[in-house]
Amino acid sequence: MELAHVVRKRKSVRSFKNKKPSWKDILEAIDLTLQGPFAGNHNHLRFLIVENMGLIKEIAKLCEQNWIKEAKMLIVVCSDDTHLEKVYGERGLVYSRQQAGAAIQTLLLGLTSLGIDSCWVGAYSDELIKEKMNVPQHVQIEAIVPVGFEQGREKKAEKKPLERSLYWEKWGQDRKKGLFEEEGEDYRPGR
Ligand SMILES: Cc1cc2nc3c(=O)[nH]c(=O)nc-3n(C[C@H](O)[C@H](O)[C@H](O)COP(=O)(O)O)c2cc1C
Repeated sequence: MELAHVVRKRKSVRSFKNKKPSWKDILEAIDLTLQGPFAGNHNHLRFLIVENMGLIKEIAKLCEQNWIKEAKMLIVVCSDDTHLEKVYGERGLVYSRQQAGAAIQTLLLGLTSLGIDSCWVGAYSDELIKEKMNVPQHVQIEAIVPVGFEQGREKKAEKKPLERSLYWEKWGQDRKKGLFEEEGEDYRPGR
């Protein structure tokens, strides 16, 4: 699938069929995240894969998001900041959050390209999830990603238009002449 198509196709899915994605596809999607950029090429990520339905149910409960229990598999994205902090000090912690976010997006896009649906889950108590999964204190839980195949058809969320996302030269500054008028309607990406 072409990259732009995958990016536009991805959406959060919160209702899953009773069908498990293949291991080969899950591993392929995780491997794609390892190809991404990392500050100093220090990859600090760990992926915890949960298949045990009892554990998935407990995690759904801890997240207070009942829909998660429908997923047949969870990918819990974690990062160990130790090395980045040692090399870059406090800035290393910023890098850690940034590269984890980039990796999560790659994971979601990789899954989409393989026909697998998912959702980025960030609302949970770090403490409770760490305790449940024996994750050490110095490791961050960056996201929980339930995966599966969409049941029904969730509407794709509306996105902010490009025109409202740009400033020119200085913060808050519009272009004097509208870019889209200058280039013509056809110039707009995604149309
Ligand atoms: C950092 C972050 C945390 C999120 N946490 C949750 C969550 O806890 N539960 C949930 O259902 N969706 C969560 N989402 C998904 C967003 O709700 C979703 O991306 C947004 O509504 C836009 O929809 P889309 O992903 O279909 O484009 C999260 C997304 C991000 C980036």
